[in-house]
Amino acid sequence: MNKLCSLTLAAALLCAACHSSEKTSTGIGTRVDSVLALMTLDEKIGQLTLFTSDIDVTGPTMRENYKEDIKAGRVGAIFNAYGAAYTRKLQEIAVKETRLHIPLLFGYDVVHGHRTIFPMPLGEAASWDLAAIEKSARIAADEASAEGLHWTFAPMCDIARDPRWGRITEGAGEDVYLGSKIAAARVKGIQGDGVGSLNSVMACVKHFAAYGAAQAGRDYHTTDMSDRVLRETYLPPYKAALDAGAATVMTSFNELDGVPATGNKYLMTDILRKEWNFTGFVVTDYTSIMEMIPHGIAEDTASAAALALEAGVDMDMQAGFYNDALAGLVKAGKLKESLIDGAVRRILRKKFELGLFDDPYRYSSEQREKETLMSAANLEAARDVARKSIVLLKNDKQLLPLKKDIRKLAVIGPLAHARKEMIGSWCAAGDWTKASTLLEGVKQAVSPGTQVLYAKGCAIDNDSTQSIAQAVRTAQQADVVILAVGEGAWMTGEAASRASLNLPGVQQQLVEAIYKTGKPVVAVLLNGRPLTIPWMDAQIPAILEAWFPGTVGGQAIADVLFGDYSPSGKLPVTFPRAVGQIPLYYSMKHTGRPMDPNNKYTSKYLDERNDPLYPFGYGLSYTTFSYGPVQVDKQEMTQQDELTVTCTVTNTGARAGKETVQLYLHDITGSVTRPVRELKGFQQIVLEPGASQNVTFKLTVHDLSFYRRDMSFGTEPGKFEVFVGTNARDAQGTTFALR
Ligand code: BGC
Repeated sequence: MNKLCSLTLAAALLCAACHSSEKTSTGIGTRVDSVLALMTLDEKIGQLTLFTSDIDVTGPTMRENYKEDIKAGRVGAIFNAYGAAYTRKLQEIAVKETRLHIPLLFGYDVVHGHRTIFPMPLGEAASWDLAAIEKSARIAADEASAEGLHWTFAPMCDIARDPRWGRITEGAGEDVYLGSKIAAARVKGIQGDGVGSLNSVMACVKHFAAYGAAQAGRDYHTTDMSDRVLRETYLPPYKAALDAGAATVMTSFNELDGVPATGNKYLMTDILRKEWNFTGFVVTDYTSIMEMIPHGIAEDTASAAALALEAGVDMDMQAGFYNDALAGLVKAGKLKESLIDGAVRRILRKKFELGLFDDPYRYSSEQREKETLMSAANLEAARDVARKSIVLLKNDKQLLPLKKDIRKLAVIGPLAHARKEMIGSWCAAGDWTKASTLLEGVKQAVSPGTQVLYAKGCAIDNDSTQSIAQAVRTAQQADVVILAVGEGAWMTGEAASRASLNLPGVQQQLVEAIYKTGKPVVAVLLNGRPLTIPWMDAQIPAILEAWFPGTVGGQAIADVLFGDYSPSGKLPVTFPRAVGQIPLYYSMKHTGRPMDPNNKYTSKYLDERNDPLYPFGYGLSYTTFSYGPVQVDKQEMTQQDELTVTCTVTNTGARAGKETVQLYLHDITGSVTRPVRELKGFQQIVLEPGASQNVTFKLTVHDLSFYRRDMSFGTEPGKFEVFVGTNARDAQGTTFALR
């Protein structure tokens, strides 16, 4: 290119840049168009391409020459690169060495914290504390943006009802209502004051859609469901995240109704853009355009690329198929360039909104890195969320909380001092060497005179029983045993499906051997999904579900064990008794032959109960709560009314405590069958011993609406039951009618 031409280009871009502070949509639109007008077809396609750097590995392929790709304008966005210095270095290549100087976008999976790691998302969901969840996402975004990141691949909004699926740990669990509230809270936290504010990053709603319904819980597997189930159960959390302003969407690996999500026009165009008016951009999941070939829906690179673009996918993550095929398709007259232009516009718009044309380096700040990364305040917030996420599953004879001055305490188990596991999977730039273990948390919490013994007992997942005897001897010396068992972080997350949900390896043998010592045993579970632990539930007097609790997880668990915090977590997912019960979730249907133990011809198993080990919404406290009768302010409600539902909750124990009061609804008869219970509201209250509070919920016709027989969304007159209680099983009800 001659000098004059390149000067003209630079001037045009400068002009685009200097106006970009005018954040009006039309203002940005004009600027986007002025850049687009300068671009060659290849440069446009470069903007539609996202490649990984080699700083982190989150998928099966690498891109060795990504710096060359940047220089050549073959890539408009980079993921898995972070750090103020490194992102600046890469940005310099794009801004100084490419013809059009268009800045790069940097994305990363900041899923539950960036450097300060919070509990796994499923654990956070167990807090049911939307403000705490939003704060966790806010801190993650603050840290990530300081390191030059503009974009996180979160929140994961996939409803998951199959704990065999390892990715159940990345979401908010099984429920539509809770999942939607949490999805929105996470987006608000991630995007803070909005795209373009310095300590925010763009959210990416993933994985669109219905990835959590992979058959048999096997990752990447086929998903197939009715449109009714899709719309009623799986879509609402994604929609809630978009309504909260999420800037981008990621496709999912699964097929839906025979079409992989990445080539699925019904999802990406009809629902996302036309029904929901989504105006941001859509990125594929890792190499998922390429995967449409083994799926069996595209023959080659070109047909896969065309299928994705025509379905509504703007950016190709890591497959390089847009790079390889789109130009040829346009030149051969097989693809309209206007489709490419539309995608480029949506991506450039975000770069403008982020302020990157004003200052491409504005997020890469060593100063902010120093101030924010793992700051004392961030660590304290992580400890707070971790405490709130812990669920007390059992506490016979009030074994918990433990006294801090116990003479001798044994901390036993493969998860007791397992630093790496504390931060779980998808831990972004989290440094596991800085995490505290349960053993350390306990040692810090107990009184100086307490002796803390430790034995590992066995590995997380191998067959050796060699160390069990030593652990038994250690237990025998102690007054109380804290037994930490569960999963390895690598056993959850992506590509981590399990066919058994028992404790892995020989951990069950360890648990039984320690139990036989006759010592009081408190089991602490560290894991990313519901496990099948009926034996433990029957024999071990106290059980805490601590998930993967994050950087300060050790202290947080100790806070609960020794009563500095009374547990308040509630399960966001059902715990089955046996894998054979799966899928098992609270909002099931009655069937025509509801379970009757005395009647063979009813819906049940020969060899297992129907009900779960712990129901959705379940979690105990160190105090107890009683629920008075549920009252409604009218027996009949009209389409214009609101129904007020009230229940008095009393703290009947000896300590202050927090309770999550849950409201469930059941539409008794409809033009289509309705779930036996559906969560429609919850409130967290803190009560002193002996104190009572009237808890009031307002139900609107929206809460009573559903997809009717003809798939229109609305209500039907008839009778309803409304329940208020402490979990999805233990809730009292009353009835009312809708006219
Ligand atoms: C995962 C996504 C993730 C992406 C980028 C994929 O394998 O499914 O959730 O955002 O990798 O790391």
